[in-house]
Amino acid sequence: MLREFLRSPADIGAVAPSSPRLAEAITAPVPELGDPVVVELGPGTGAVTSIIEEQLSGRGHQLAVEANPRLADQLRWRCRMVDVIDADASTLPQLLHERGLDKADVVVSGLPWASFSHDVQHEILSAVSRVLAPGGAFTTFGYVHALRLASALRFRQLLHTTFEEVVPGRTVWRNLPPALVYHARRPRTPAPRGMAVVPSRRCPESVSEAKPVG
Ligand SMILES: C[S@@+](CC[C@H](N)C(=O)[O-])C[C@H]1O[C@@H](n2cnc3c(N)ncnc32)[C@H](O)[C@@H]1O
Repeated sequence: MLREFLRSPADIGAVAPSSPRLAEAITAPVPELGDPVVVELGPGTGAVTSIIEEQLSGRGHQLAVEANPRLADQLRWRCRMVDVIDADASTLPQLLHERGLDKADVVVSGLPWASFSHDVQHEILSAVSRVLAPGGAFTTFGYVHALRLASALRFRQLLHTTFEEVVPGRTVWRNLPPALVYHARRPRTPAPRGMAVVPSRRCPESVSEAKPVG
């Protein structure tokens, strides 16, 4: 992870893989029963991928969409049961369609949102909202030290305009760096580009309000 970060810091966005605590928090919506379609965007070295693989233990369909071909290759070796795709997260609807899948029950993201432009953030969130099954869940996280960056604030605003429900989860202090998890559900009907949907609820995810766990 560190080697890839040094090659391309903005695309990788982190110097270390997600900790088991963070992986546990972001995979919480993976159903214990049935055959769900579970998608992971930006799996990196696979710290979260292998937790999902264990949770599913052969049920449903697990996809991991990784834009870095070297990391995607390594992940294919490491997680044999996972459908690892070397592609951009914004192509998710097409990737599911190619596999005869319409919808995803759970989408989890390890993407470095704060490094993305507004257009890229919008494109990927809109792809997620188009594939999420009714009752489906989207989970992502942001690094605590970067929550006040303009790009991170813009991303949270976009989350609220894309989903009716955005619930900040817990702050995972045992991660390098500490991270705040978000659980989103019920995509809104897409608004025309440039038209802002202003969320009616305040966003209570400031660091001072976050409670330390673990
Ligand atoms: C912070 S790392 C992921 C860390 C991962 N959760 C782990 O625990 O190892 C972000 C990953 O997102 C990937 N990525 C960045 N932009 C992407 C995109 N547009 N589509 C798919 N993957 C992308 C990067 O290559 C990198 O592997």
